[in-house]
Amino acid sequence: MQTNYTKVRKSNLFLYQSVPLYFKANAERFGIYKPAGIYLKEMRVKENLIPRQLYLKKTDKAKGMRDVQKAFNKQLKYDIKSNNLQNVKTTVVQLVDEMFSEPSSGVLEGLSSTVNIIVGEYTNDPEIIKNFWQISDKDYTTALHSVNVMALAIRYAISQRYNKIKTKLLGLCALLHDVGKTKTDQEILKAPRKLSDEEFAKIKSHPTQGYNLLKRCKFSNSEVKLTALQHHEKLDGSGYPNGLTHLSEFSRIISILDCFEALTNDDRPYRDSMIPFKALDLIQKDVIAGKLDRDIFAKFIYSLL
Ligand SMILES: [Fe+2]
Ligand SMILES: [Fe+2]
Repeated sequence: MQTNYTKVRKSNLFLYQSVPLYFKANAERFGIYKPAGIYLKEMRVKENLIPRQLYLKKTDKAKGMRDVQKAFNKQLKYDIKSNNLQNVKTTVVQLVDEMFSEPSSGVLEGLSSTVNIIVGEYTNDPEIIKNFWQISDKDYTTALHSVNVMALAIRYAISQRYNKIKTKLLGLCALLHDVGKTKTDQEILKAPRKLSDEEFAKIKSHPTQGYNLLKRCKFSNSEVKLTALQHHEKLDGSGYPNGLTHLSEFSRIISILDCFEALTNDDRPYRDSMIPFKALDLIQKDVIAGKLDRDIFAKFIYSLL
């Protein structure tokens, strides 16, 4: 049955090892193309003879995603060793984009190893992580935004002398804060225009969607789901989804980093991205109005220096 199978992204074809891949024999039947336990390249089939579309069993999807994750993490370590920051960023964004395409429990947890690799490699040389968020990429996607916020979070943590465990946790919270957007209609997210009230309401549901998604994951710290839920709340109760005034420390940090990243990187047809100074000036207005944490804002500016 077609509904039991899902298409494999061409870019990932050679990354699957533990799960079988299938080809479509006819409208009703799928046949095994690559058995479990080996890579496609080990079959020594010429690339142009591989069927244009291969499939995975939906029940194998999470396991297959872990293969993909493993391969990307290996690539990431290689990129870091070769000191090519642009490649490091491209690999991380691709990996996150991949995981966000199937954001289920069992898949998202794996992103902690990616954050651990980055924190592990770069905390010894904080200069490198400093400009990571500014390295540009072609498309401004949720994955790119999330990776940028993660980089700002690690930078913040390093400047505040957090220990490695706390640094990794803040990085992970930042990376997953917008995971609920994977459930939002992508057309709305990419719309090159101002949104209608109804469309805005849909976007505004992403903290709750993210919370519900992360609730099902096995993260050892509840802060991960909490920051996803609270990062659009404001200290004066004017935020969403719940109008809270008491927010977790990480949520207060991520909400400032999140605004800054979006203002400085997200070019929209109706507004250009801003230079950091202007973005900070704008965020400061919210700090003065009692919406964002004053102390954390000061620490954040310090982390950018
Ligand atoms: Fe958000
Ligand atoms: Fe965000």
